[in-house]
Amino acid sequence: MDNKDQVLVTSASLSVNANQAKALIVLQGTEGPSAIDVRTLYANQGILTYDPGFRSTASCKSAITYIDGAQGILRYRGYPIEELAKHSTFTEVAYLLMFGELPKTGELSAFTTSVNEYNLLHDQVLSFYRGFRRDAHPMAVMVSVVAALSAFYQDSQDYNIPEQRVKAATRLFAKMPAIAAASYTYSIGRPFRYPDNSLDYSSNFLQMLFGKPNTPYAVDPVLAKAMDLLLILHADHEQNASTSTVRMAASSGANPFACVAAGIATLWGPAHGGANEAVLKMLEEIAIPENIPQAIARAKDKNDPFRLMGFGHRVYKSHDPRAAIIRDTTKSVLRHLKMENDPLMMVALELERLALNDEYFIAKQLYPNVDFYSGILLKDMGFPSRMFTALFAVSRTAGWASHWLELKAEKGAAINRPQQLYVGPNLRHL
Ligand code: ACO
Repeated sequence: MDNKDQVLVTSASLSVNANQAKALIVLQGTEGPSAIDVRTLYANQGILTYDPGFRSTASCKSAITYIDGAQGILRYRGYPIEELAKHSTFTEVAYLLMFGELPKTGELSAFTTSVNEYNLLHDQVLSFYRGFRRDAHPMAVMVSVVAALSAFYQDSQDYNIPEQRVKAATRLFAKMPAIAAASYTYSIGRPFRYPDNSLDYSSNFLQMLFGKPNTPYAVDPVLAKAMDLLLILHADHEQNASTSTVRMAASSGANPFACVAAGIATLWGPAHGGANEAVLKMLEEIAIPENIPQAIARAKDKNDPFRLMGFGHRVYKSHDPRAAIIRDTTKSVLRHLKMENDPLMMVALELERLALNDEYFIAKQLYPNVDFYSGILLKDMGFPSRMFTALFAVSRTAGWASHWLELKAEKGAAINRPQQLYVGPNLRHL
């Protein structure tokens, strides 16, 4: 986005210690809160703003994803997540995120052809896996393998050329299912499987994960659709920690595969991508509906560190629009698998019902988030919980690649270099 896209609505001023206030401009985006432009504040007034955790700081301009947490709104490029979840495929959504518009028929087939061309892993990349212990966490493997891709593709590393940027972004999107699947098959001692270009993105992912060399693998279309939906719902979430990390790394001009490896490392943290694993563990501990009141009482007790995992969100304060979609999909997939009596699902539904009627959760605006049902869905689809965050990484690669493309296309983008409030010793001598 160029500066011409900024809308100057008004001005603000900041006076420090009764010194004369200097005017600051206020920027208004298309929607959402406006932002005081403090870029000249330090140069003009010699003072910094302090905002660790970025609670009140817009770190960039972006035209990709819009969230209104108060109203439970999530849109990719202007389209509501509910509509994309209903009518689009993950490949279409990835195209939308990366290039700004949903693909027309010819554009979709050209993009699919590129994805199919790039979805194989270099044979030497596969050899890296054998250096890991079989019990390594899939995210540890993925961080390393994606970073290692920086050592390949020497033919197209001039990212000032738009075509080379698109090639790198498409490669990332195309290769991630094979990278995640190989981290799983290696961990269970099965041979790596190659992509099958007769299949769509999600079906292909499932066959690489679960196919065995001695039996033909028939993709279950209901599971493939559920996988596609999960990939759509997790594809982007504006300036979350991992996406901000990708943008931070990219601002120095770093290789895109290294930037996305940094994003995967950030996603791995339990405060970011690891919550659905924690929800499953909590539901297993609660085990039966009779234990739910005790769990709710513990969650409300200030002296107990226990929290209801899968409840609450930093941004969404009325509902998380992804949670209801996942709950409905989980119900229909469990019916399809004839697992509708899954005891964990029974516990989850009752827990949600009781918590939503509890004064504490109502007063603190705590609702089920995207992670509340996705762990049950993935478990019943056959995924071990250690793979949950790896799946998130496959999905979020579409968002990371889009933010990388957006940042690289921005004219005059500066290296991200925050200031600090120094609290160390004053000058001293030995
Ligand atoms: N269970 C019980 N109480 C909670 C919960 C919960 N899940 N979440 C928040 N609260 C309470 C807090 O104790 C706090 O109470 P207080 O005002 O008396 O101090 C109040 O609600 C506000 O909580 P904060 O932690 O300040 O809210 P914040 O917006 O910073 O946190 C978070 C959001 C981290 C998601 C939190 O709700 C939480 O820990 N939830 C459980 C973990 C979880 O599900 N994480 C996944 C998030 S989705 C994602 O990252 C993809």
